[in-house]
Amino acid sequence: MNRYMNDIIDVLKVDFDINISIFDESFLTRIINMRISDTKSKNIKEYKKLIKENIQEAIVLKRLLNITYTRFFRDSLIFAQLQKIVLPSIITSINQQRELRIWSAGSSGGQEAYSLAILISEFEEELGIKIPYRIIATDISETKLKKGRSGIFRKNEVIDLKLKYIEKYFTSRGSEYIISEKLKKNISFSYFDLTDDKNIKPPESIYGDFDLVLCSNLLFYYNPEVQKKIIVKSELSLGPNGYFITSEAEKVLVKDFTKLKQINPTSSIFKLNNQGAIL
Ligand SMILES: C[S@@+](CC[C@H](N)C(=O)[O-])C[C@H]1O[C@@H](n2cnc3c(N)ncnc32)[C@H](O)[C@@H]1O
Repeated sequence: MNRYMNDIIDVLKVDFDINISIFDESFLTRIINMRISDTKSKNIKEYKKLIKENIQEAIVLKRLLNITYTRFFRDSLIFAQLQKIVLPSIITSINQQRELRIWSAGSSGGQEAYSLAILISEFEEELGIKIPYRIIATDISETKLKKGRSGIFRKNEVIDLKLKYIEKYFTSRGSEYIISEKLKKNISFSYFDLTDDKNIKPPESIYGDFDLVLCSNLLFYYNPEVQKKIIVKSELSLGPNGYFITSEAEKVLVKDFTKLKQINPTSSIFKLNNQGAIL
């Protein structure tokens, strides 16, 4: 890594107690280059000086390093497999004997958690049964957690949703779309830092391990050591026969760092068992 890059990492750590060494080097370089350009600094040396003298710039850099983009049913292939394979398998094995437990790790504004709740609600209707479930959505962005708790989305955020889902699960108020209380009551939003060494699982997991953990579109922003830590944490939080889901681009990391098995050779859905692929 460039000497000034290391200096910037040190300044942030020592002067502002912000640790950016956890990020992937090329991602970090890209964001810092963007700030060099946006702040009209002549070069990285000048940007280092700027950041040392200006806490506001440190705050801006920290914020830019946390990408929070998400959307409902973000990866259609994964949600199709959730609907056809994963949820039916979990629902059948639990057989209404206990609550189904899901962790949306790095939930952003809750679109992933609410998409899952929609699928479960559709199953309830199809099977004519009540499926007790709890989704624990966690994130480090208080702004996004607040949004998730509010369950209020803008028109452009629901635009990709099937019309029948919008009509069934949202009420509109002016330009806002509000998620139904029926789904909202099953989801809790709380702060949990996946890079934190102290805790393996969110506090809510004292009630039992998870049947399904989703940790998507955040691993690739971190360096390999941190990626491994997050994946191992997720694996440890799974109950027997639990499933782990990541994004298409991140599945290779799970294969590298755990013994979880893909449910089929190309899937980014993994299963906790020793029997290998289940399809
Ligand atoms: C790009 S969004 C992806 C959201 C969703 N999982 C998806 O796939 O669409 C990444 C989210 O992970 C959160 N995140 C990043 N680092 C985290 C960490 N160390 N602990 C918990 N959440 C984190 C961010 O705040 C952001 O909301």
